[in-house]
Amino acid sequence: HCTRIMIYTHNLMKIYLDTADIEEIRAANETGLIDGVTTNPTLILRSGRTLPDVAKQLVEEFPHFESISTEVVADTVEEMVNQGLSYKDLGSAITIKLPCTVEGLKACKNLSNSGIKTNVTLIFSAAQAVLAAKSGATYVSPFVGRLDDNSVAGLEVVRSISELYRMYGVETNIISASIRSVHRAVRSWYNGARIVTMPPKVFWDMYEHILTKDGLERFQQDWNMSQ
Ligand code: E4P
Repeated sequence: HCTRIMIYTHNLMKIYLDTADIEEIRAANETGLIDGVTTNPTLILRSGRTLPDVAKQLVEEFPHFESISTEVVADTVEEMVNQGLSYKDLGSAITIKLPCTVEGLKACKNLSNSGIKTNVTLIFSAAQAVLAAKSGATYVSPFVGRLDDNSVAGLEVVRSISELYRMYGVETNIISASIRSVHRAVRSWYNGARIVTMPPKVFWDMYEHILTKDGLERFQQDWNMSQ
């Protein structure tokens, strides 16, 4: 019985927060619905802290997170691998985020071969997602919002990656990233990305519906009248 429940929750849609702001993560995590966090150099800059500092706190304060992405910033394979290795000892959820470049994918292969979780980022095409999967990536992050900004349907890229991965039994997980609205988050799940990483605001917006708000007001009024 217990096993069935575990399989069930394992298969659910996953929500990651796309932020390095601990206060925001803490508040959202109180819902019990958050599965992980993704950061990038821009989000780290915005937090006013250093990456090792943020990553260490995330690992300690949120031990149930399955993945915490920490991005390397380097030009050579060696530097990327060394940076990755320096973060991974913080905890098993630490996921090394690497760019989809020749060097980044070589570093991905190296780290993946050592059993370290990897997330190939800045993915804008199915071709890049094929290369990342062949490099042993644990996750790939297609950037839906930035594709949309450039007049390419981001969700279609998510769909082609997930179709291709399904056809060939690829185990790499898709994290739909660069999400700016609830609609894009939901359509990402529909299009085969089990994981969506979203800014905290988009997560809170998922609760909202005008009919829920109106309905509650009406129920409250009627309740008051019946007392
Ligand atoms: C996460 O992996 C990405 O770094 C992030 O989603 C990018 O989002 P943006 O396009 O809103 O900066």
